[in-house]
Parts: sequence; C-alpha cells; structure tokens
Amino acid sequence: TLARDEKTNKKVKYEFPKDFWWGSASSAPQMEGASREDGKGMSIWDYWYEKEPERFFNGIGPDIATDFYHRYKEDVRMMKEIGHNSFRTSISWSRLIPNGVGKINSKAVDFYNDMIDELIANGIEPFINLFHFDMPLELQKIGGWENREVVDAYVEYAKTCFELFGDKVKIWFTYNEPIVPAEAGYLYGVHYPNIVDFKRAIQVAYNTIVAQAKAIKVFKELQIKNGKIGVILNLSPVYPRSNHPADVKAAKIADLFFNRSFLDPSVKGKFPRELVDLLREYNLLPYTEEEDKELIRDNKVDILGVNYYQPKRVKAKEHLPNPYSPIMPEWFFDYYEMPGRRMNIYRGWEIYEKGIYDLLKRLKDEYGNITCFVSENGMGVQDEERFLQNGIIQDDYRIEFIKGHLKWIHKAIMEGCNVKGYHLWTFIDNWSWTNAYKNRYGFISLDLKTRNRTMKKSAYWMKEVSKNNGFND
Ligand code: BG6
Repeated sequence: TLARDEKTNKKVKYEFPKDFWWGSASSAPQMEGASREDGKGMSIWDYWYEKEPERFFNGIGPDIATDFYHRYKEDVRMMKEIGHNSFRTSISWSRLIPNGVGKINSKAVDFYNDMIDELIANGIEPFINLFHFDMPLELQKIGGWENREVVDAYVEYAKTCFELFGDKVKIWFTYNEPIVPAEAGYLYGVHYPNIVDFKRAIQVAYNTIVAQAKAIKVFKELQIKNGKIGVILNLSPVYPRSNHPADVKAAKIADLFFNRSFLDPSVKGKFPRELVDLLREYNLLPYTEEEDKELIRDNKVDILGVNYYQPKRVKAKEHLPNPYSPIMPEWFFDYYEMPGRRMNIYRGWEIYEKGIYDLLKRLKDEYGNITCFVSENGMGVQDEERFLQNGIIQDDYRIEFIKGHLKWIHKAIMEGCNVKGYHLWTFIDNWSWTNAYKNRYGFISLDLKTRNRTMKKSAYWMKEVSKNNGFND
C-alpha cells in the first residue's frame, strides 16, 4: 500500500522526474465544434448526429462542442494558468481533407497552425493525435477501415500532417484507442456504422495496425526532426477471479483481445501467437497481405500513451456459450463484480488505483520499458453541478482520484518504469460520443448555455502540483 510513512505518520513527498509532462487530453471532435464551418467535411459523427440525433444523450451532437475552434486562445491561456506544459488534441481529418482524400482545406491548415503556435508560444508542448474515432464520412461510405483504400488514404493524410506541421510538432500519435472503432463500431453496435460482426471487427482492427505501420514508415522517411511517434492505447489490467486454471485462462484470453491485440504489434512488431492461434481455430483470421508482416515488424512506435480508467475482472464461463461459435470476445469469458470493489458511483466505473502501477510495471518487464506516459485517466461525474459552491465545482473526489493514481505512478517510476508524464482526461468538460455531456471529466467546467469556462477546485490543485512537480500527502 501507499499509506503515509508508517513509523512517523508524516506526510510523504511525491516528487516527479524533471520535465515531467503535466497536462490533459482531448480531441478535435470533442472540443472544436464548428462542424460545418470553414469548409469542414463531414465525419461519421456529424453524419450520425444529423441522421439519428436521438442516439445522443439529451439529443446533443458534436456541432458546437466546447467551441474550441473559436475559443482556443482563451483555453490555452487557462492551460498555462493551471501549469500545463503539454496538451493533447487531435487533428480532424475531415476538417483538413474534407473528402478524406484529395483537396486540402486551407482554412483548416490556418487553424491548426495558429492553434499549435499558440500552444508553443505559451510553453505548452502540442501532442498531436491523427485519429480519434472520426472517420471522414466519404471514406466510411466505401467501407471505412475495412477497405484497404482507406488504409492508403490514412497514410496520405498522416503524411500531409507531418509535412504541414512536422516542423513544430515533435510528439505525434497515430491513434487514440484504435480498438474502439473496431469494437464499438463493428462489434457492440454503439458507434457508427453500428454493425455487430466479430469477423469484420477483427478486419477493422487489423487494418488499423497495417495503416499505423505504414504511417510510421512515412514518418521515419520524412525524418521529422527530433520527432517521436506513438500510439495511445486504452489498457486495462485483467485480473482473474481466482487462481483456478479456468479463471486464469479466461483472463488470459481477455488480455489477448483487449490489451495485447494492439500493444504487441505496436511495441513488439508482431501479433501474439496465442491470439493468432485462437483466431485461426475459430475461423476468424482477417485478410492479410504478404508484405504486412514485415511492415509491422519494422515500424514500431517510439512512445506509448496509456489510457487507464478501470481494470477488467474476469472469470471462466459457467455454462457452455450459446450459440457455440464465438460472436464476440466475451464468448470466451465472463466479467464479474469483485465483492468490496470501490466504485466511482457517479459514473459506475470501478476505481482501482493500483491498476496503473500493474500496467506500467508490465510495460517495463514485458515491453522493453518503452517510453510511456499516462495519456488519459480521469473521473466522469454525472450532474456535477450538484457540487457547485461559491461559483466553483468543489471536485475533491477528482483531486483524490488523481492523487491516488499519481502515487502509484510515482512508485512505478521509483522502480524504474520509463514514465514521462500524466495527462488528465480532460481539460474542459467536453462532448463525448453518444454520451455527449452526461459525464463531466474536466479541470474546467463548461456552461452549456454560454460556453463560459470556470476552473474547478481540481484545476487550482493541479496548478500547485505542476508548479511543485509533485505534492505532499
Ligand atoms: C475515453 C475516450 O476512453 O473515454 C474519450 O478516449 C471519452 O474519447 C472518454 O470521451 C469518456 O467517455 P464517457 O463515455 O464517460 O463520456
């Protein structure tokens, strides 16, 4: 445990390495708004909202979001005010290249140049992600990630971004949580295109990996000066219910699907043998091309972003699955609710701070201690206005949540893990896919009527933490 110094009961100082990245993360579709302005093309989100607004919490879509497109200067000022030295957002593919391929939108080039310059001028390192679930509609029409032409379009888009902004952006990411478009869009039917098909989901996942390797190859060829390229993965330690071999096996399979499927090819340059064997056994292998293997082997990431929210707790299936042919990863195992687990009751997610330590240690032991950082971690809260007092959201629960995770991150660093920073999800209460503004995560609260921004108590706290490069507790 990480209690106070047990002998003296004195506060312990948690000091982080020099130049630790303090900041937060968001994405273009969740912040920018201006979804039909200045020549932006449609993404699947703009389209889905137009077609089926009832799918979105309170019927709110991404059209205005936090209005970052118009207010980024104000936001960058606030980032600086709370001590950020880094901030992650994404480029909207459909803003930059409205049809997904072809003509570049010069207004978008101006916007991204200005936004990036503004960050840099304020001492905030821009971490730029190329893709955060927002496939351009025109490319979805031809099959999205299932289509190899879209893989090539992505590589072309990535190249355009590196060429346009590579002189000032040093830290790039191919994707945020690339498993999500595959599972949410093609397996669980909760994101557009709202399909439920295990085999197609696997093809989508596979093609994104191929596209990543090709984009990294281009990145290297362009020799972006001092540039690093990585991927941001949502990882969850998987804990079996017991040491019983059936539970352990169930947890291993969940880990293969949800962690190693992207982690291994991205960091080690190859898919886990056990996963390939499993997919083969059930006739789920994707279509591949001859040169893919080599491409993936030769184009690994330099840096890994770890998004961590909660662990997965898994047990063996108690009954033979029906139908007797896998329709999703959960065909192989069941989740279970660990008795006594701590919950974030405002979002319904488990809080288990040690999970981040377990993940980081694993990266050290099994993934060559790759340079990494915590790229998302955070606490969603419904109806957060209930904590408003004297004009400020008193989010002590969020401070405790962050602190709890930072302590374990600190311990991992002390034990030699190569962890470079911590980014909260998120800077400002932003729009979130079908959940819209249901769960608030920001340091800064957003008034949905006026789009006014107000610092929460956690923002004042973070200001001190980043100034002192740590905290006492
Ligand atoms: C993260 C995603 O995993 O979860 C974000 O990267 C998302 O894009 C966040 O907004 C919160 O999700 P939700 O459903 O609680 O709003």
